[in-house]
Amino acid sequence: MQKQKSDTASLDAPEGVVGGAPLTVAIVGFGTVGRSVAKVLSSGMHPSLRLAMICNRGVERKKVDWVPRGVEWTESIEAVIGSDADIVVELMGGLEPAGELIRRSLQAGKSVVTANKQLIATHGIELLVLARRHKRELLFEASVAGGIPIVRAVREGLAGDRLFRIAGILNGTCNYILTRMDGAGLSFADALKEAQVLGYAEADPTADVDGYDARAKIAILIASGLGCQVNLDDIPCRSISSINNVDFMYARRLDCTIRQVSWAERAPGVDRQLFASVRPALVPLSSPLARVEGSQNLVTVQGEFGGANTFSGFGAGGDPTAVAIVSDLMSIARTGLGAEAHFVQQLEGQVSVGTDFTSPHYVRFTVADRPGIIASLATLLSAHGINIDAVLQLPGHDKAELPFVMTVEACPLSVLDAALADINALPFHVCRPMAVPILGAQGNS
Ligand SMILES: NC(=O)c1ccc[n+]([C@@H]2O[C@H](COP(=O)([O-])OP(=O)(O)OC[C@H]3O[C@@H](n4cnc5c(N)ncnc54)[C@H](OP(=O)(O)O)[C@@H]3O)[C@@H](O)[C@H]2O)c1
Repeated sequence: MQKQKSDTASLDAPEGVVGGAPLTVAIVGFGTVGRSVAKVLSSGMHPSLRLAMICNRGVERKKVDWVPRGVEWTESIEAVIGSDADIVVELMGGLEPAGELIRRSLQAGKSVVTANKQLIATHGIELLVLARRHKRELLFEASVAGGIPIVRAVREGLAGDRLFRIAGILNGTCNYILTRMDGAGLSFADALKEAQVLGYAEADPTADVDGYDARAKIAILIASGLGCQVNLDDIPCRSISSINNVDFMYARRLDCTIRQVSWAERAPGVDRQLFASVRPALVPLSSPLARVEGSQNLVTVQGEFGGANTFSGFGAGGDPTAVAIVSDLMSIARTGLGAEAHFVQQLEGQVSVGTDFTSPHYVRFTVADRPGIIASLATLLSAHGINIDAVLQLPGHDKAELPFVMTVEACPLSVLDAALADINALPFHVCRPMAVPILGAQGNS
């Protein structure tokens, strides 16, 4: 029988208790986040929820003595789907078997809560349609920015506005590396090594450093906040591994620092198009984006009526992420099973992602010094219609490998790329020029 919120519920009843009977919860994936969720649910803080089952492969090695005695341990996903748990919490990660677990749980009449960004970014719409068809919820607050309630903020708290820009620092690993390069003068390689030792970075850091992790999160925010569906692969990613210590010195001269910025903005005056990217960028020191230290996350959201709002906090970690998961569980307990998923009907459909946005740029050249270099760069930039804003050269570098920087006035990225292709053919480069956009205080270009 379905558990429904009682119309006659007393105002004295504990918040979220559904008709007096708590909703039962099965956790699948007893790792960093799964353990934290179990810890919160075992604390007795939330009488509307009862932990009933924990599933993990090789479950014997996972058992702990601090969960309540009645909790069933299993390594069988089939047992979870066949159980009478009201809500399945998917915390295995990866596309499969997580996707299959979620589909079959929804078909079996269970609501689902997940932290799985890759799955939601890739198959979220299909899964939400399925949830809706079965009159169950699929909630995924923890999939973006861990403990920061940003999905609910853009979907519900700011639903009265027409949001047009979301910019954020959505990957704590990259932020840790960049802030250590900036603050302690570490090289990229040393900052990465340190992040790995401290457990902030995976042994294979590609998904973080090259932007794929943040791309999945910005795609979820594009759907949740800007109301459009994008193809994940259409969002360009650029790695932070091209950033060098010297870039932070030059960035400071420009009253900026460098962050991996995930960014999406409706194209002004163009229907069904937005610009989006995940890339390193110069951000003004006065900007909220510059003030995020270490492994923290931050998102700024801009709306037509309400202006800019900024959200920050722990973007990862078992306990902060567990809070997001349990808050989703409580939301289901409050509304009751059978509430409709309300995300799908708000989407305006598939939109194309433009990558040719206009912004000022920072370009770092590393050259074997000789007379006439600036003149030949200026000639080629000018031939492409690009205006130089400033030329910066700090003393103390080896002339055989001399870094210096040009900032250029706002131009389309395609124009700068074409100019840099020509410039790269010149004979004095020690390595390829490195260009990043210079963003405004709200992450705008
Ligand atoms: N960690 C964070 O800070 C964080 C933040 C936000 C979102 N998330 C998301 O939360 C999810 C879980 O992350 P996590 O950090 O907790 O990962 P984790 O520590 O690796 O835990 C995953 C757990 O799932 C189990 N598992 C994996 N595949 C399984 C399968 N096929 N059948 C049964 N059990 C399986 C693993 O078992 P083994 O022990 O055998 O590997 C492990 O116990 C991911 O989607 C992640 O992206 C994590």
